[in-house]
Amino acid sequence: MAGPVVVIVGAQWGDEAKGRVVDLLASRAGMVVRYQGGPNAGHTVINARGTFKLHLVPAGILTPQVTSVIGNGVVIDPRGLLGELEMLRGAGVTTEGRLIVSDRAHVIMPYHRLLDTLDEEERGGARIGTTGRGIGPAYMDKVARRGIVMGDLLYNDLLVEKVRANVARVNRQLTTLYGRQDTLDADALVEELHGAARHLAPYIADSRAAIQAAIAAGWPVILEGAQGALLDVDFGTYPYVTSSSPAAGGACIGSGIAPTQITRTVGVYKAYCTRVGGGPFPTEMAEEMGNRVRTLGNEFGTTTGRPRRCGWFDAVAARYSASLNGFSSMAVTHLDVYDTLDSVRICTAYRINGELVETMPSMPHLLDLAQPVYEEVPGWQASTVHARQYSDLPTNAQRYLRRLEEVTGIPTSVITVGPERDEALVLQDLLAPA
Ligand code: IMP
Repeated sequence: MAGPVVVIVGAQWGDEAKGRVVDLLASRAGMVVRYQGGPNAGHTVINARGTFKLHLVPAGILTPQVTSVIGNGVVIDPRGLLGELEMLRGAGVTTEGRLIVSDRAHVIMPYHRLLDTLDEEERGGARIGTTGRGIGPAYMDKVARRGIVMGDLLYNDLLVEKVRANVARVNRQLTTLYGRQDTLDADALVEELHGAARHLAPYIADSRAAIQAAIAAGWPVILEGAQGALLDVDFGTYPYVTSSSPAAGGACIGSGIAPTQITRTVGVYKAYCTRVGGGPFPTEMAEEMGNRVRTLGNEFGTTTGRPRRCGWFDAVAARYSASLNGFSSMAVTHLDVYDTLDSVRICTAYRINGELVETMPSMPHLLDLAQPVYEEVPGWQASTVHARQYSDLPTNAQRYLRRLEEVTGIPTSVITVGPERDEALVLQDLLAPA
């Protein structure tokens, strides 16, 4: 019988602790697959071996029996990937034979990082606030059908030809559009890719075929989203979005799984909201509360170290995300961050130009005008960190969680109450057969 396929999606603006949820489930999984994004992601996992900050390699690598896959929808910086593999090896984690890198995944070239920075500079005050990792320009080349894929690293003539053509184009762009004198040397870039290819070649393969074989063999497969649905290039707060499709729909295209093969889709929601970079954020907290939650939740970017903007739980955005992704359940993370607050807020609607709005406007600029309508609920002022069953949670924490279920319309399957692997409540068997 085909194995269950579970998609773990960030339900807000990223940093919801998806890696942590994947790590919780991984002990019973056969394969964990990243399907989009790149080293803009930062998945922190804390376990007995230490604290791991992963940017490209799926969190499944930390569980011995799991095969990890970097799918075709991901963009890969070969140097960054090598660094991550070295870090894992240094911590005693074997990667040989346990990691497949899609030959179709696109390469982030050094000029993509440069163009990311130059593009942001050009935008001035309207900058997106990207992670500067070259994500947007790499996806631009993919869509423009001139991208270099990981499989090209295995075919020298093809690689040289593609790098030369791309570098000639980028050099024209640098001198004419950005007025720069310094240009890039194609041969040096090829040399660098050769170096990376020597180490990465054993990992590069047709990942779609491997994923299909795993499903056919009955292995439970987890698809690990990066960023969040509200950063989706189509359905997020455009243009303040990333350049890929973190939404559940992206999981199919980014891995080569058919929609009918997906068993469950789990939305990961923080008990509050955060956002990094620019863009509308209707429930952003006032400075004092924002600082307090940022400190309590250690809300600083894993990839860039930037302080994250903190906000109250936004049920309008949460419902939108649930509908967009078809979540079968939600994982509520960082509940413990609220442990010391005397009351907490949930935004149940927006007021836009005097009108009460309960659904997400399709034109994101309207979000700039959105005034949140809050309901205030009592806090629990007690530690949740030792709770392992629902009944262990303080009554007001249970009330808050029930209210989140009511306002989103989806049941809770996982709750995390601390950063350690066991500081969590698993309420549903997410890897059960369909
Ligand atoms: P990019 O993905 O680097 O192009 O950045 C585009 C937007 O997505 C910026 O607002 C980033 O802060 C945001 N972003 C990208 N990756 C992440 C992530 O992993 N967590 C949270 N925000 C992210």
